[in-house]
Amino acid sequence: MTKLWGSRFEGKTDSLADKFSFSIEYDYRLAKYDVIGSIAHAQMLGKCKIITQADAKRIVSGLKKIEKQINKGIFKFDPKAEDIHTNIQSALKKLIGNAADKLHTARSRNDLIVLDMKLFCLVELILIINAVARLQKSILKFADKNKDVIVPAYTHLQAAQVVLLAHHMLAYVEMLERDKGRLSDTFDRTDTMPLGSCALSGSSLPTDRNYVARELGFIATTRNSIDSVSDRDFIVESLSNCAILGMHFSRIAEDFIVWATSEFNFVDIDWSLCTGSSIMPHKKNPDILELIRGETAGLYSNLNEMLVLLKGLPLTYNRDLQLDKPPLFQSIGKVKDMLGLLTKLFESLKVNKGVLKSRVTDESFFSVDIMEYLIKKGVSYRDAHDIVGTMIKKCTDKGTRIADLTKEQLKNYCPKFELDVKKLLNPQMSVKIKKSFGSTNPALVEKQIKKWKKLLYA
Ligand code: ARG
Repeated sequence: MTKLWGSRFEGKTDSLADKFSFSIEYDYRLAKYDVIGSIAHAQMLGKCKIITQADAKRIVSGLKKIEKQINKGIFKFDPKAEDIHTNIQSALKKLIGNAADKLHTARSRNDLIVLDMKLFCLVELILIINAVARLQKSILKFADKNKDVIVPAYTHLQAAQVVLLAHHMLAYVEMLERDKGRLSDTFDRTDTMPLGSCALSGSSLPTDRNYVARELGFIATTRNSIDSVSDRDFIVESLSNCAILGMHFSRIAEDFIVWATSEFNFVDIDWSLCTGSSIMPHKKNPDILELIRGETAGLYSNLNEMLVLLKGLPLTYNRDLQLDKPPLFQSIGKVKDMLGLLTKLFESLKVNKGVLKSRVTDESFFSVDIMEYLIKKGVSYRDAHDIVGTMIKKCTDKGTRIADLTKEQLKNYCPKFELDVKKLLNPQMSVKIKKSFGSTNPALVEKQIKKWKKLLYA
């Protein structure tokens, strides 16, 4: 295979150097973007009379044939052609002959690779946004189905207060909504068309870059040829989005790994997402969730790899930039897998309602409610904290329950206590009396569920 740059070379390149530098092994994934970008470019060259209309037509029809082969999965990639651009170029030459040599007019691989990568990212960002929305819907359905369920909530992984299960689930929906916001911000900043910046300084030929941008559906054309070929911010941002998504996925996974232990036993993860042990016949392990947690490490290091790759890299194009692809492709692939798996998790997750019912009766869950009962009666926050703290400690030490205290015993802790305080010692009451916006109050949670339904199914 002839290289796109062979003529001034005095000798053949070293075979190990070729193996070390060729990127076709991974950039073949950009084939369809390389072709559609080239179709728009050839049309522009014809329209601007930089090449003849006849040549432009020949190039476009050849590229369309190649596009079909790529879409059908029958395009033959040549591992000896160094990258995707060289592969498409030489396939075109085989198809249409010398007219193919005019395609690379007024562009270079430096701007072409950015175009390919931007088109790839734009498509993948949308796919990920849609997959995040599907995950949100599956979480919402799960929340809605278990609206009456109350669960213990934790700080420091110590049981703290009770909340609606749906409230906990909607926290995930909120996290994922922010992810969608970040993904769509990244989309907007990626949406500028770099082709025609050529190697770095632009071209003396009468090109129409805006035409290419419009043909390819970009919202704008890049304004600076140097930045066009140097910029990889959109890849850093995409990797950063993947890393933050992974951070969220791993926290969700960890919640359910804990909740599915025999000690907690709040939920049953479907068999389809678990594996067994080769030695302990009784085991049902949440491996998929553990792997989601584990794969997040790779998402972080891919972001880090890209940041390190770019650090101190002089403008404009440097070959180092070729190495942006493996981490990006890997992170995007993993994130899409994780999204699919988590969606399946929520579709098949079973709640052990009986177990949960018996786990939310501990009186200490209601300590803040009792405190606020006293605050409503004029006791200061500090005093109320001390009073309830003492009461709970004494009851725990003596093995008695607040529910069993007499009116006198209660008044000994604080004269403001009446027997009606005992109404607070139940989980339904605990969620019901929450009033603040954003709290676990069932009416407010129901409103949130309705709001999310409207938003996600709009
Ligand atoms: N394979 C290269 C990359 O991914 C394409 C651009 C090559 N440009 C060059 N001047 N060698 O970055």
